[in-house]
Amino acid sequence: MQIAARIARLRAEIERHNYAYYVLDAPVIPDAEYDKLFRELQSLETQHPELATPDSPTRRVGGKPLDGFAPVRHAVPMLSIRTETDISDTGAIAFDARVRKELGLGENDAPVEYACELKFDGLAINLRYERGVLVQAATRGDGETGEDVTQNVRTIHCVPLHLNGCAAEVLEVRGEVYMSRRDFERYNERQREQGLPTLVNPRNGAAGSIRQLDPALAARRPLSFFAYGLGEARGWASPATHSAVLGALATLGVPVSDERAVVLGAQGLVEFHQRIAAKRDQLPFDIDGVVYKVNSIALQAELGFVSREPRWAVAHKYPAEEQLTVVRDIDIQVGRTGKLTPVAKLEPVFVGGTTVSNATLHNEDETRRKDVRIGDTVIVRRAGDVIPEVVGVVMNMRPANVGEPFDLFKRLEGHCPVCGSRIVREEGEADWHCTGGLFCPAQRKRALLHFASRRALDIEGLGDKLAEQLVDGGIVNTPADIYDGRKLGLQTLAALDRMGEKSAQNLLDAIAHSKRTTLARFIYALGILNVGEATAKDLAQHFGSLDNLLAADAEGLQQVRDVGPVVAQSLVAFLAEAHNREVIAQLRGSGVHWPEHEQRRMAELPFSGKTFVLTGTLDSMTRDEAKERLEALGAKVSGSVSKKTDYVVAGAEAGSKLDKARELGVAVLDEHGLMQLLKQVK
Ligand code: IVH
Repeated sequence: MQIAARIARLRAEIERHNYAYYVLDAPVIPDAEYDKLFRELQSLETQHPELATPDSPTRRVGGKPLDGFAPVRHAVPMLSIRTETDISDTGAIAFDARVRKELGLGENDAPVEYACELKFDGLAINLRYERGVLVQAATRGDGETGEDVTQNVRTIHCVPLHLNGCAAEVLEVRGEVYMSRRDFERYNERQREQGLPTLVNPRNGAAGSIRQLDPALAARRPLSFFAYGLGEARGWASPATHSAVLGALATLGVPVSDERAVVLGAQGLVEFHQRIAAKRDQLPFDIDGVVYKVNSIALQAELGFVSREPRWAVAHKYPAEEQLTVVRDIDIQVGRTGKLTPVAKLEPVFVGGTTVSNATLHNEDETRRKDVRIGDTVIVRRAGDVIPEVVGVVMNMRPANVGEPFDLFKRLEGHCPVCGSRIVREEGEADWHCTGGLFCPAQRKRALLHFASRRALDIEGLGDKLAEQLVDGGIVNTPADIYDGRKLGLQTLAALDRMGEKSAQNLLDAIAHSKRTTLARFIYALGILNVGEATAKDLAQHFGSLDNLLAADAEGLQQVRDVGPVVAQSLVAFLAEAHNREVIAQLRGSGVHWPEHEQRRMAELPFSGKTFVLTGTLDSMTRDEAKERLEALGAKVSGSVSKKTDYVVAGAEAGSKLDKARELGVAVLDEHGLMQLLKQVK
């Protein structure tokens, strides 16, 4: 009995967290805590299968693949609504006029009250709750008969598996399953990284996932849901207005969008249409319009239907977010990180409210998979503030004289279009990169800012604004130029915007001061692809001197702790670029140096080969200070606990890392223990 009670408590708690996370977007406990509860419930249910129920949160993970979807006859038909294609205010005014006429209202009668909502761009779904428990989810189908997609809908975390305090015999909730823009972008980003096909748009993403026969695959696609109405309702005291129905659903725990309003008359509709148009780009999901509904359910009944469409509702559209246009050319842009991105130059087209003439093709593989070529007619999508993208080619419109299949290397003849350095694409990477990191004008600002950043050469006062002025003004082209007094002197600096003589002098002092650094910082400052702070430290310890590093080949580089083929390849490509070596030589020539004692080989240090993880707060020093001290003694300080971790140092309020350490049996030190250890090796 105790177990049944524990299971019930766990379910209630997990559902509460699900609601906070997926509906309110305001999680109250860390993910690790949630996972613990979830795993406990899972194991209890496995041990006691007689206590499993269909509305347990563990059932959200997806069951066995299906052969097909069973048909479901809707108790109340799922109708569609008339669409007002006139996207100007006139669309709203015409709807109000029709409603007033049907209701026999004259000029002197009061304005009609309307419930205004968003028109979500996804897939219509009917959720059937019996005595408060989700028993079935079905697609609209032809309106009379849909498909049973219960298994897949269960995996949508914001769909409640049972309603909060609702024992109605039957309550059918209707609404739209959709994919948020963020989830869509993230999903596609992951697919692109793995060279897998991407989704064309969030709507296809939602529809495709719901109709996916393998629920495990469906569960991997992140979907959401908003309710906008009811189907069959038995034993439920239904409110008298549509807005109150939605309010009641929200109280039951069903997701209902906050972007809704009750307004009066045509003027109210027009204002809603305009207000939402202005914020359409900022919404976290796609909409293709708004929906107006007569708010009174009694008036809705009076108005009734024409040809399966209610007279009391209308959808009022916005400009489409997808359009057809022609690819004139394919350009290759060099990003701040040296990443090379193919961009389609388009016949200008009005899409999602603006004129678009460039659209990203993301990378070479994606361009090839979609087989986009110069001369093709393509679908362009621009939604939200996301960069417009080419989502696909209309193959049956391909002209006879279409261009060749896309080949980035061939197209650039192997060289960066901005600086002429060689381009590389590492194994397992989707992107081509320019290797002229220190030299390439497209990467100048970033290279300079990175060079001057706190963990690199730490030049205080050289921030975003100044870097921009120095680079745009042609004063500094490479990081070496900042040490060249003829290029960056007191006069040049004082002539810059908002730079007084005092701050100019301070900056020059900081620059002079930065010349004395460490080898690790210097390597990190070079901004080599895939070489972060930790790798730079490992390299410095291993090679001991810059000359040793410069002389290393891929094999030698892979001898370094945590350096695999990808990092080694990045280093080789960077060092193979004569432009970069020149800048390195200039930097050394201008007096950048590091003390000899840093150049001890790592094997001599007491904590060589040991990995530490720091968590929680320490009294006697900051985590950064502790990290520096440990690293100075040869330790590697990592951000996450694994089997390879030697010690976890847990300060006050240590969280999930401490749990993980205990779980894996990793040694745990408190602050005192750490101090003892540091003393011992002194
Ligand atoms: S009401 C009887 N409200 O648009 C009224 N529909 O043809 C039934 N849709 O397939 C629909 N947002 O999936 C309604 N706020 C909203 C909606 C909405 C999106 C979809 C729905 C339906 C189509 C209307």
